[in-house]
Amino acid sequence: MKGHIFMLLEDFISEVAGDEVLYDALDECSFDSSKGFVRTENYPDEQLVELVNIVVGKMGISLTQAHFGFGEWLYPKLSNLLPPQFTQYPHPAYVLKQLDDLHHIELKKLYPDAQPPAFQYHSTTPYTAQLIYTSPRRLFDLVKGVLAGMSCYYDVDIEVELQTNWQGNNNCAKFLLKYSKSCDL
Ligand code: HEM
Repeated sequence: MKGHIFMLLEDFISEVAGDEVLYDALDECSFDSSKGFVRTENYPDEQLVELVNIVVGKMGISLTQAHFGFGEWLYPKLSNLLPPQFTQYPHPAYVLKQLDDLHHIELKKLYPDAQPPAFQYHSTTPYTAQLIYTSPRRLFDLVKGVLAGMSCYYDVDIEVELQTNWQGNNNCAKFLLKYSKSCDL
């Protein structure tokens, strides 16, 4: 995963748990965390998992809560990464519809060696849609959290129903979305 995400995770931990927890956790990691993460570098996912596991243990929260909380916090920060025409819309559906292109085209311009997840978006009625997420990282709770962050950011409630193992693929999940405001996309 990109150093950028590690750096955002550090900001999140320091905001919700404090700098002491963050620095203690970094000290406990089995990898060398003394040099700090470089935004543009790729780091092994195992390092992210290890850091998250240590912090979760220190805070006494579940991994599900941690992934959801980080995702929810993350959306405004991620949206700042791209020029406003990609994210400034009156409804989250506009961004969700182009989520795969955002990760695979726009993000690759910033970080050519990124390994982003895949998304498919189908609008089913003006109030409902399906978002299909595929990634070997299986960060389903993170996606749920980002959706909650989007709900707040765009001021549109989103009810989310998750179906894992979509079409027999462990790496794939379908999210059924129900919006409180309609969108004719
Ligand atoms: C709109 C602005 C967004 C930007 C700029 C953005 C950017 C990024 C970046 C930089 C990564 C790391 C990729 C890597 O390390 O190779 C990433 C990963 C990820 N993004 Fe986004 N993202 C955006 C929106 C979203 C939304 C709306 C969702 C979910 C609804 C989402 C879900 C994820 C997930 C789950 C990952 C983790 C990687 C994986 O699962 O394989 N992102 N994104």
